[in-house]
Formats: sequence, C-alpha cells, structure tokens
Amino acid sequence: MATPDWSPIAALERATLSQLFERDSDRVARFSADVAGIHFDWSKTHLTGEAVGALEALAQKMGLAAKRDAMFAGEKINVTEDRAAEHTAERGEGAPESVARARAYHARMRALIDAIEAEAFGPIRSILHVGIGGSALGPDLLVDALGRDADRYDVAIVSNVDGLAIEEAIDKFDPAATLLAVASKTFTTTETMLNAQSAIEWMVEGGVGDPYGQVVALTASPEKAIEWGVDETRVLPFSESVGGRYSLWSSIGFPAALALGWDAFEELLEGAAEMDRHFRFTELSRNAPVLAAFADLYYTQVRGCETRATFAYDERLRLLPSYLQQLEMESNGKRVTAEGELVTWPTAPITWGGVGTDAQHAVFQLLHQGTRLVPVEFVGVIEPGDSLDDEHHRQLLLNMLAQGAALLVGRDSEDKARAYPGDRPSSTLLLDRLDPRTLGALIAFYEHRTFVNAVLTGINPFDQFGVELGKEMAKAAGKGGNVLDPSTTDLVKRAGI
Ligand code: F6P
Repeated sequence: MATPDWSPIAALERATLSQLFERDSDRVARFSADVAGIHFDWSKTHLTGEAVGALEALAQKMGLAAKRDAMFAGEKINVTEDRAAEHTAERGEGAPESVARARAYHARMRALIDAIEAEAFGPIRSILHVGIGGSALGPDLLVDALGRDADRYDVAIVSNVDGLAIEEAIDKFDPAATLLAVASKTFTTTETMLNAQSAIEWMVEGGVGDPYGQVVALTASPEKAIEWGVDETRVLPFSESVGGRYSLWSSIGFPAALALGWDAFEELLEGAAEMDRHFRFTELSRNAPVLAAFADLYYTQVRGCETRATFAYDERLRLLPSYLQQLEMESNGKRVTAEGELVTWPTAPITWGGVGTDAQHAVFQLLHQGTRLVPVEFVGVIEPGDSLDDEHHRQLLLNMLAQGAALLVGRDSEDKARAYPGDRPSSTLLLDRLDPRTLGALIAFYEHRTFVNAVLTGINPFDQFGVELGKEMAKAAGKGGNVLDPSTTDLVKRAGI
C-alpha cells in the first residue's frame, strides 16, 4: 500500500505571498485556469512551481491517474462497499454500459416529467420533496440557485425529522395540487420515511382520494418503494453505484428538472461533463480540481490548517457551503486508509463558510487576525442575479476581491490590536454567469477535488460508515432497553421520550 510522504513538500522554502508575487510576474497566469465558464485563481495561495512538482510526484506515487481512470471506467473503486463510483456516468462520462443505463433512467424521468407537465396527474402546482443528506442538499442547491425566475412549480425540500419542517412546507401547499417526491437511495432512512408518511396523512386529511397516486419515488431501491406503496410506473430508479452525496445528477435531481425544465437539467449535466473531461484529460499542473486539491493538501498537511472556508458572494449560492460540508466531510472525514490501516496524517479539514458580504460582518475578524490559519475560497458571479442598480453587484464583487487582497497584504501598525499579519491565503472562483452549465461544472469541480484529496491521503471517499453508530443507537434507544450511558439515560428521562 502506498502511503503519502509530505516531507518533500514540507521541506520547501516558505516564501510569503507578497514575495511570491514579487518573484514571478507571471504568477497570476501560472496559477489560474478557465474551464466551462469558470475562472479559477490560486495565485493568492502559497502554491509554487516546486510545490506543484512535489505534489505531482506524490500524485504519481499514490496512483492518481490510474485511480481516476478506474473511476471513469466503472471499476469498483469503493473497495469497502465493493462498488463502483459512477456519478460521472450520469452526465455521459463513464463505462459505456453505465452511461447507457443512466440515459435510460433519465429518459424514464423525462417521460414522467412530460406527463406531469401535460397534467396527467391533475393540475400539479407544487412539489413536496422529502429526503435528507445527499437526497436533499443537491436538489435544494439547484432549485435555490437556478429556480428563482423559473416560475413553473413551487418546490419545498424537507429534510429534518422535526415536524415543524414539514408543517411549514405543507402550510403553503394545496394537497390536491401537490406531488410528493420521496427521495431516498435506500428507501429506509427514518427521517425521510416518517416525513413521507406525514405527507400522505396530510393529503388524506386534505381530501385527496388516492394520495399514493401523487407520489413519485427517487431511489436505488425500487422494490422497497413499491413495497411502501408507490406504483412501479412512478418509481424513478438510479444506480446503486451512484453515491448519495453524488446523486443530484440522477433521479434525485427530479425536483430541479421539474422546476427548471428538462433542457436546463440537461445543460447542468453537460456542464458537469465538461468538467469531467477537463479533469480526465488535462495535465495535472493545469488541472483545476487537481490544483485546488494540491492547495488544500498543502495547507492541511504542511501548514497544519484544520479548517477551510468557502464564501459565496452571491445569494443564489447561499446553500453551496452546506452542500460542500456533506460532500467533503462525509467523503473524506476518515481515519483509515482504503486498505483499512489507521492514518498517521490529517485527512479532511473541517469545511465551513457562509455568504458574503454578511460573513464579513460576523466571522471575518478571525480570518484576518485570529491565531488560526484558514484558507479561504471566494466564489463570485460576474453577471448579477438582481435587476436593481448596478451598484449592488459592484459593491458585492468589490468587497469579495478586497477581502482576498486584504488577507494577502495585511497592514502594519504600532498598535498590535490594529495590525493585520497578512500572508493569509485565498483562492477565487469567478463564474461568468450562474446558469445550469456553470453550476454543473462548479459542482463537478468540487466532486473531483474531493476525489483527488482522498487519493492523495490514501482514503476511500465513497463510504460513510461513520454515520451509522448514532442511527443504530437512536433505534435501539427507541425500543427501550439499557443501551445508553448514565448521562444520556438521564437526559432521555428528562426529555420524557
Ligand atoms: O446518514 C448519511 C446518509 O447515508 C448519506 O450518505 C445519505 O446521503 C443520506 O444518509 C440519505 O440516505 P438515503 O438517500 O438512503 O435516504
């Protein structure tokens, strides 16, 4: 088994960002890339030609190219679950038989959408989508980012088992004009099944004669959906080899395809495919997901950074940070290698973030003057999402760019409380516009970056055993029995549950 050796990278000279810019007038061009309507700029990170070279050597040792090819070939790279990881096949990049299967599933989804649009299920106006984790965060991001002007269907995406979540959603809807989409890869997730059941009861109480006639299942376990009561014709399957947090491209994206229209969904897939091809065929030193991961690894492994923050300077991307939290932390928050050995190096940092400019007035204090080094990523869009005076958008982008500049340069002061150390890294992603194509490419970029981080830290990004214990204990506790520690037992008693 290959293990990563960070010492060649740690041994490199540590110049400041200002020194790096002084030494190389070509630095901006050298550390930037343009892919699928997105400009990437890593010049304000501490990556150097030598660091990239050393990381390329490490990538070779860890078999990055072979593992990438194996992923696209549909090999079983998810070794702990003995499965392939075929989310790219959903956008047409993968093993031919997997691409063909994904296309057939998409055709089925499209036919159902055509039928809904033709009012075969009555005058449907709203979609109540219940799902959690990967079965909610992706579609929620898509609908929130792109659906504002779509004016087709009202969509509510409900994930939390807290009854308030579904109560608030259904309050706005008419049961007779609502389609219930139950999204669950396994079709066993407690929260989703309880929310689905409550939605059915709401329909019954609202006088819907055949509530199951208004249900669509989005799942990799069609037999379970049928057993639960969904008619086979309204089950939209996807492949077992598509991981939950990588599944928005499959039928899990159904509410987005319905709300945005089929053409938009196809453009989303095509944007992602463009990023797939870039990741697949571009040399490592010019490869956007690879360079982003190299910067991540440099900060995590060499500079001891424990977190990384993403700030979306665009309201339409306000859900991006929480989407990335699942993608990165559920994928790479592991402590064993793909071979099952304990790692002796850090794996995924904590992913966090927020929306600019709001975050500037809340958490940026720590970024500028705190004792912890946090690599920051800014995501902005050149074309505004609003139709107000241009000054709004100008201020938005000016603020984003000024923050990156201030983190870099800092400012001296005799008064230590007023001094900014500077030399704090950031990367910037600038989208030409926010449309299905660029959003698809952006999300695929993050997926591949997560994959490269996993390969270079030697772990399997496609399982998630860490989420199981808590679920099992909740089930066991729900059945009674002495399974909890004294503190939790006391709290259960106090809560009266
Ligand atoms: O609890 C974690 C998890 O298994 C995620 O990986 C997944 O996206 C989510 O739960 C929902 O699972 P399902 O789609 O099977 O309901």
